[in-house]
Amino acid sequence: MPKVLISDKMDPKAAEIFRQRGVEVDEITGKTPDELAAMIGDYDGLAIRSSTKVTKAILDAATNLKVVGRAGIGVDNVDIPAASAKGVVVMNTPFGNSITTAEHAIALMFALARQLPEADASTQAGKWEKNRFMGVELTSKTLGLIGAGNIGSIVADRAQGLKMKVVAFDPFLTPERAVEMGVEKVTLDELLARADFITLHTPLTDQTRNILSADNLAKTKAGVRIINCARGGLIDEAALKAGLDSGHIGGAALDVFVEEPAKASPLFGTPNFVSTPHLGASTSEAQVNVAIQVAEQMADFLVSGGVTNA
Ligand code: MLT
Repeated sequence: MPKVLISDKMDPKAAEIFRQRGVEVDEITGKTPDELAAMIGDYDGLAIRSSTKVTKAILDAATNLKVVGRAGIGVDNVDIPAASAKGVVVMNTPFGNSITTAEHAIALMFALARQLPEADASTQAGKWEKNRFMGVELTSKTLGLIGAGNIGSIVADRAQGLKMKVVAFDPFLTPERAVEMGVEKVTLDELLARADFITLHTPLTDQTRNILSADNLAKTKAGVRIINCARGGLIDEAALKAGLDSGHIGGAALDVFVEEPAKASPLFGTPNFVSTPHLGASTSEAQVNVAIQVAEQMADFLVSGGVTNA
């Protein structure tokens, strides 16, 4: 019987599915890298979220490992070249938390448009600053989507429901798909010049790192509001801070940071800056979805060799 280790906190549905499908499963979370390396040799599969770092050292110790399953989208916590060199298949669940992440981007867009965190703090401090918080409507504003894949396309759909115009920069977006989504495919420069709000929905790669660099931020419309629920590293954080301080950038909401956990940042305390601690996928619905999907995919692979989302 194949044996899987669940090494990050995961919805109980995952263990239930492994067992139903004839896979033995242990749930042991919170281990140090050395402790994980000492135990990983017993397992054919490793199911993770974002806490476990599957490094080369872990993979070297994983003498029986055949598959790593990431309950979520990003596989940045897995050393993919080292896994490939060992013939270990790495799977993710690209769809399970897409809606949840898209909804978080929309929530942050509203938070920026109406300065909700500052207004909440001020009201609860007993100040009743009714004249301080003048917001903007989303209706008729242009939303610039950087990345129009699973999550970006859901954001576009929701934004259109809010009567926003959506322009998208994504080299993989075909003209046909853009028409289907009802978005206008544009170049990055065009998006920067036209968007009232910009939201990022792309993985962090060599091509996308610092896609909102100091130069590109300087090309944005005055007062632009920027949301990032994708990955830290897509925006130059120092340039973002400078843009907020100068007033050129009207607001920024980050769910993700270059360094995580982000316990300190020059951005903290900046007016019109909103942050959340990488909560993009954190809803009960999404966590059930990704747990079910990762367990089904891994069990399928271990029991019958089926490969999905690898
Ligand atoms: C993901 O990649 O699925 C999300 O960023 C969620 C996460 O890492 O926790």
